[in-house]
Formats: sequence, structure tokens, C-alpha cells
Amino acid sequence: MVNQYNKITVTPISPVLGAEIGGVDINAGVDDEQLAEIKQAFVEWSVIFIRDQEITPDQHIEFAERWGQINVNRFFQAVETHPQIAEVRKEADQKKNIGSMWHTDHSYDQIPAMGSILYAREVPDVGGDTLFSSMYAAYDSLSDGLRQILGGLHAEHSSRHAFGEVAYVDTDMDDLGGRLGNIDKATQDAIHPVIIRHPLSARPALYVNGDFTVKFVGWTKQESQPLLDYLYQQARQNEITCRFRWRKGSMAIWDNRATHHCALNDYHGQFRLMHRITIEGVALEGI
Ligand code: SIN
Repeated sequence: MVNQYNKITVTPISPVLGAEIGGVDINAGVDDEQLAEIKQAFVEWSVIFIRDQEITPDQHIEFAERWGQINVNRFFQAVETHPQIAEVRKEADQKKNIGSMWHTDHSYDQIPAMGSILYAREVPDVGGDTLFSSMYAAYDSLSDGLRQILGGLHAEHSSRHAFGEVAYVDTDMDDLGGRLGNIDKATQDAIHPVIIRHPLSARPALYVNGDFTVKFVGWTKQESQPLLDYLYQQARQNEITCRFRWRKGSMAIWDNRATHHCALNDYHGQFRLMHRITIEGVALEGI
């Protein structure tokens, strides 16, 4: 199906996923017809980018609420005046960044977030790009035999090892202190099908990720890890990724069920500040 766009322009940045949307000024207002086309492009391209937006935190929230209910992230430091907005911040003297490993947001929730709306407030002169990969294409790259096996599996996801006490004991999280917190709230565990039927496109997609997936249900961690590692490798093939170079005022809207993403940490000595709003999703079903 070829989508028609009359109220926006849609320019793919890779053949597989990612498109820049033009003709949109959130500050001036987005009417329902235009929003419907933006959402259509979102389903078609899995992650969309809107450049040169000048918006206040209130406008960011108002725009996000037109996509669904806001899911307040419990671990990221929030914008002081706007608890619905999570800060993705790295100061010039900090070494670690948030989101440097390939992942999808909030898969540790039994009803995982639909997507995230990330807005660039301050960006480095160069560096700090974000990579996205297509989990549809990752699924498509698997053999029929492996698809069949995975189609019968569920996986366990958790926030405990990523944001709980163990994360601070096992790894050097010190530098993230103040930006991540609430270790006592890292109690979510969820089970999802390994292959999901995407709730909007109905396409099959691989749904496991390196940050939050723990193991396959009924398998040990030791048994699970080699296959999980293979699947992560499939999900990071260069041909199924795109790379977005941020400018101040750029916005990315990604679908957590159709993509993975990874924030590059290649800008030491420079400040980067992004505002992220995460939108509630639905329970995921298998194929
Ligand atoms: C995130 O993982 O949500 C942050 C992505 C980014 O900072 O580019």
C-alpha cells in the first residue's frame, strides 16, 4: 500500500526505517488531519523526525497527549517543573550517557510503552547521534525454521538488573547518579511473546532487547543467552538501521514495538540535553 500525504512531506532517510516529516510547526498548531498523516507516516516508517521545532515543555506535553496517555518514567530525572518529561542529560564533564546500549524503552512493563517523543534542547556541535533499527526487518532476516521456534516462545523482561540496586553494584553507574534514580522502584517484571504481531501494522516483529530481556520462559539464562545474542546481532545489521543527526529543535518519535535504538556516546566534553515523553501502549500479542 502506498500512503498518500497531502498535509505533510515525508522523506525517508533509509529504505527500511526512518523518515523526516516536513511542513509541520507544532508551535503554530497541528490540526487533526495533519496529525493523522503524521501518525500514518509513523506506522509506515517506525521512527519519524521533525526538525526546527521551537516548543515549550507545555507544548511538548500537549502534543504528546494527542498520541496517548503519558507514561511517566520512574528512573530518569524529570524536568523539575514538568514531571511528565524525563531528562536525557549528559554534562560536559560526565562520561556515561543514558541509552548507549541498543534497547527498546519500557519492555519491562507488562503493558509496554507504545513509543517515545524525544526533543533536542541542547546538542553537541557534532556527535550524539541516535541509531535506530527495524525489528520488522530483524524478523524478516531470520530463517523459516528459527521463526517457527521463536513464534512459540515468550521472554522475561525486567527493570531490576538495569535500574535496581544490582545495576549500581555490578557496574560503574556512579557517573549516572543524579540522572537515574529510584532504585527501590525497579521492581517490574514482564513476559512478552518473542515475536509480536505489531498492534498498528499487524506485521510480525522481533521483541527482545539487550537492556531488559532476561531469558526465554522455560529456558535457563545460560541456554537463552547465545540465542538472544544472535537475535541482537540480527537486529543490528547495518542495512536495517538508520542514523539521525540531531540539531537543536529536532524531534524524534519512535515506535518501541517496531524499533530498537541506541544513543551514541561520542561527544565527551560537550553538553547534550534531550526531553523525552513516553506514551502508553497496549499488551502485546504473539503471531
Ligand atoms: C533514549 O534511549 O531514550 C535516549 C536516546 C537519545 O538520547 O538519543
